[in-house]
Amino acid sequence: MEHELRRIQDEALAALASVADQSGLERFRQTYLGRSGRLAALMAELPNQPAADRPRLGRLANQAKAGLQRAFGDRRRALTEPPQVFDPTLPGEKPERGHLHPLTQFTRRMVEIWRSLGYDIHEGPELELDWYNFAGLNIPRDHPSRDIQDTFYIKDHPDLVLRTHSSTVQLRALKHRPPPLKFVEIGRVYRHEATDASHESMFTQCDGVALGRDLTMAHLVTTLRTFFQLLFGPRVKIRVRPSYFPFVEPGIEMDMKWSVAGKTVWLEMLGAGMIHPNVIKAMKLDAKRWRGFAWGMGVDRLMMLHYGIPDVRLSYSGDLEFLKQF
Ligand code: PHE
Repeated sequence: MEHELRRIQDEALAALASVADQSGLERFRQTYLGRSGRLAALMAELPNQPAADRPRLGRLANQAKAGLQRAFGDRRRALTEPPQVFDPTLPGEKPERGHLHPLTQFTRRMVEIWRSLGYDIHEGPELELDWYNFAGLNIPRDHPSRDIQDTFYIKDHPDLVLRTHSSTVQLRALKHRPPPLKFVEIGRVYRHEATDASHESMFTQCDGVALGRDLTMAHLVTTLRTFFQLLFGPRVKIRVRPSYFPFVEPGIEMDMKWSVAGKTVWLEMLGAGMIHPNVIKAMKLDAKRWRGFAWGMGVDRLMMLHYGIPDVRLSYSGDLEFLKQF
């Protein structure tokens, strides 16, 4: 019986391969799988087999039947489904391509502009020594911006902070070369603040420093105005207000005129000033011989204006629906 079973199987598979249409399929089904088909006839013989062989033979017969049914189903599907033809006129499938984050694209643009103005670009550490973030910048121990609310401190490392601004570049610039010099740093900074549409606890700043013998506030204002004109076009209007930062004297803030939806407003863009003599001394330079200016601006705010992004949190969300727009 075992032998017969194998013969039926072989014959059936060969027959199935030459079935070419629906009626052929139906004939095959009746001949091999139907109630009075060959497989059923063979299985009817089972009770006549020696009792000891019956379980094994029954299993073999069932396996053969399942196999033939599967082959039958495959053949039927192959005959009824339309063949997959390659159609060269169909539009192609576009492979997904990644691209740079809008903040990276924008940062690169800023870097280009500062390079064109003769500035070198440097990066400093985000995990910073207290001295570079505060003490060396004339921010004494009891200054409010050191408040635990603002600064992320590192547990068990009293000398380390997540830098709260990239003004650290003022002190680090000297590590790269002796003055006169012009440096820009663009990087992430951290503040322990509540987040909303215009505040994140991590954001990006662009700080710059220029050190020379005869630099004045006029150089500072002209440099920054030129930067904004190169970024947003020659008609950009800026204004300067006096302000206070411990590491500059005098200190200023700069606003830019911005029109959106018929309204014109002055937007605060940056803090800046002439480098404080104490900071020049912290650089181990003679404060009588060297003078400089420095600024720090929020890169996210500029990027949001540039692209018309309404919420700073989108920028760091990793949201593809947002990112795909750039
Ligand atoms: N570091 C200041 C800030 O974070 C900005 C600033 C930089 C001001 C350099 C003056 C000079 O707001």
